[in-house]
Amino acid sequence: MTDANRRTVLVTGANSGLGKALALAFARDGMRVGMLVRDQARGQTARDEILAATGNRDIHLFVADLGSQQEIRRAAAEILDRFERIDVLINNAGTAYASRRTSPEGIERSLAVNHLGAFLLTGLLLERIKVSAPARILNVGTRMNTAMDFEDLDWTRRRYRMMQAYGQSKLGNLHFTFELARRLAGTGVTVNCVFPGVFRSNLGGTDGAQGIFWKAVDLLLGWAIPTPGQAAERVLHAARSSDLDGITGQYLGDRRPLKPPAQALDRDANQRLWTISERLVGLAPDSVPPSA
Ligand SMILES: NC(=O)c1ccc[n+]([C@@H]2O[C@H](COP(=O)([O-])OP(=O)(O)OC[C@H]3O[C@@H](n4cnc5c(N)ncnc54)[C@H](OP(=O)(O)O)[C@@H]3O)[C@@H](O)[C@H]2O)c1
Repeated sequence: MTDANRRTVLVTGANSGLGKALALAFARDGMRVGMLVRDQARGQTARDEILAATGNRDIHLFVADLGSQQEIRRAAAEILDRFERIDVLINNAGTAYASRRTSPEGIERSLAVNHLGAFLLTGLLLERIKVSAPARILNVGTRMNTAMDFEDLDWTRRRYRMMQAYGQSKLGNLHFTFELARRLAGTGVTVNCVFPGVFRSNLGGTDGAQGIFWKAVDLLLGWAIPTPGQAAERVLHAARSSDLDGITGQYLGDRRPLKPPAQALDRDANQRLWTISERLVGLAPDSVPPSA
């Protein structure tokens, strides 16, 4: 197999936690691995560790803050330049913010990173993913979804609350999954959301969201909580298993579909968030034409 034909996976947030465990597993599989990280030094350290553990040299680092649309566009151009195919895209990066912060585009950052970052990156890479079909897009979701307030997605009218902002942005991953799956029907590209379970994590730590309470919980109970490597098994199954060939528009748990929150099953809500997201990231309306 020539290098250009090697099966290729792109994992976001690949320098730590679940993303790093996934990048390691795919490198062991002998795939070409793209690691999208926001910090060059942290990414390089993770890449070196994975290379040393697997001997796979076909591991590529891309740097972008997924809260910056300019950085996403630059990284996507680099990815398209380097990868002739993308068989699997895993939108894994996620974070939480203790107080309301805004992206360079002036958008509340949980929404900007957790939902719009994945939305824009996927949109920019979609044609390359389509020509690689059969291909899979996996969005890493949570069970901590809260309501989507379409009147105040941006937390300008409500009092900002960290977990609600996180939960709303992660509900966006489900709306996005279901709408994109519908739009890609018949293309050979499947789109699913995977809940990896609860596992040991630095979630939000880099952004200062892990207070002393969570650090204490981790210290006292950390041993009882699954590791990112254990959590990765669910996502790896969703990425690799032939049982899931052609399966799309699902919310996947431990090798079985989960019941999504009712709001995420509302087709009007899915379309509404899609249209708003296209406008917020500057993609043309119906950038992926709706299927019947
Ligand atoms: N941990 C859980 O129990 C749990 C449960 C359900 C779902 N999840 C989901 O699992 C995914 C991975 O989380 P994790 O627990 O593995 O946490 P983690 O160890 O903190 O990993 C999150 C990754 O996302 C990256 N990231 C954060 N903000 C970013 C930004 N603005 N631009 C680019 N990358 C950014 C982080 O980079 P830095 O290292 O630079 O911060 C890190 O690599 C998330 O989507 C989370 O919502 C986690």
